[in-house]
Amino acid sequence: MQPPAPESPAPDLESRRIAFLGGGNMARALISGLLRGGVAATDVRVAEPRAEARMELAQRFAIDTHADNAAAARDAALWVLAVKPQVLREVCTALAGLAQAQHPVVLSIAAGIRSAQIARWLGGDIAVVRAMPNTPALLGAGATGLYANAHVDADGHTLAMRVMQAVGLCHWIEDEAQMDIVTALSGSGPAYFFLLAEALEAAAVARGLPQDIARALAAQTCLGAGRMLVEDGASASELRQRVTSPGGTTAAALQAFAAGGFTALVADAVGAATQRGAELAAQAEGAA
Ligand SMILES: NC(=O)c1ccc[n+]([C@@H]2O[C@H](COP(=O)([O-])OP(=O)(O)OC[C@H]3O[C@@H](n4cnc5c(N)ncnc54)[C@H](OP(=O)(O)O)[C@@H]3O)[C@@H](O)[C@H]2O)c1
Repeated sequence: MQPPAPESPAPDLESRRIAFLGGGNMARALISGLLRGGVAATDVRVAEPRAEARMELAQRFAIDTHADNAAAARDAALWVLAVKPQVLREVCTALAGLAQAQHPVVLSIAAGIRSAQIARWLGGDIAVVRAMPNTPALLGAGATGLYANAHVDADGHTLAMRVMQAVGLCHWIEDEAQMDIVTALSGSGPAYFFLLAEALEAAAVARGLPQDIARALAAQTCLGAGRMLVEDGASASELRQRVTSPGGTTAAALQAFAAGGFTALVADAVGAATQRGAELAAQAEGAA
């Protein structure tokens, strides 16, 4: 699903207060996207422990800032948990009383923490949406997988989706276990493309191309190929075949990739990341 056009209003969020708990990089990207999308600054609040960061947030977005999480969360329909996973438990348990009194929709972007843990830390029976965005969300070009627990109603789905669409493309995932695959695909995915760009640049430099030119051409090739993938509508396989003439240079390179087991290597990498995601979640569950 495509994000709303910047000028289109977001009627489902009108007059619904949204509280961000944690005002770091991801919260700032989301707040910026929401305000661009037409949400009123008066409907957005943020809790952030550092005074300097609160001042920056207030100056940049003209929103209410709080040192205390409960002060920001009070009367908000949606709580966005935008703190690091390590502090999430402490943040949630301190808000359990308020969560039980208000029953907000809780949207967590913390990597790896299961919805059941969050609901439990907040006192139980809480509507929790988990989102797994990726770093390009900071540019409004994110890819996010979303999972909602059984307490999230249609309105809660809409609220959470609107927030995450502010920073890019979103898809709902039915089975929470599949969030580990989303993490391995799109969460960690930008690093795979950086690795490929790095390797392309190094290979071209090793063959004599000046580094600045190799870097610029590798980066622009990633951007152009990515745009074709998104904008053309054809599959990656079709696009690859279109640029591969029999006996040509691309065919020679692809043969070298195949000989080196590229597809199996990518499958191994995604498998390793999926497994690691599940292990980290299990560790967090054990520590809970
Ligand atoms: N960045 C990404 O690309 C990305 C992608 C996927 C998921 N995520 C998830 O998004 C979440 C936020 O990541 P981020 O990159 O935005 O991190 P970040 O920039 O470090 O933001 C976290 C913010 O929370 C604040 N904070 C710390 N303790 C707090 C508390 N007890 N109550 C309220 N706020 C508190 C921090 O303040 P201080 O600076 O004072 O510590 C910081 O401003 C993480 O859970 C991460 O897993 C991020």
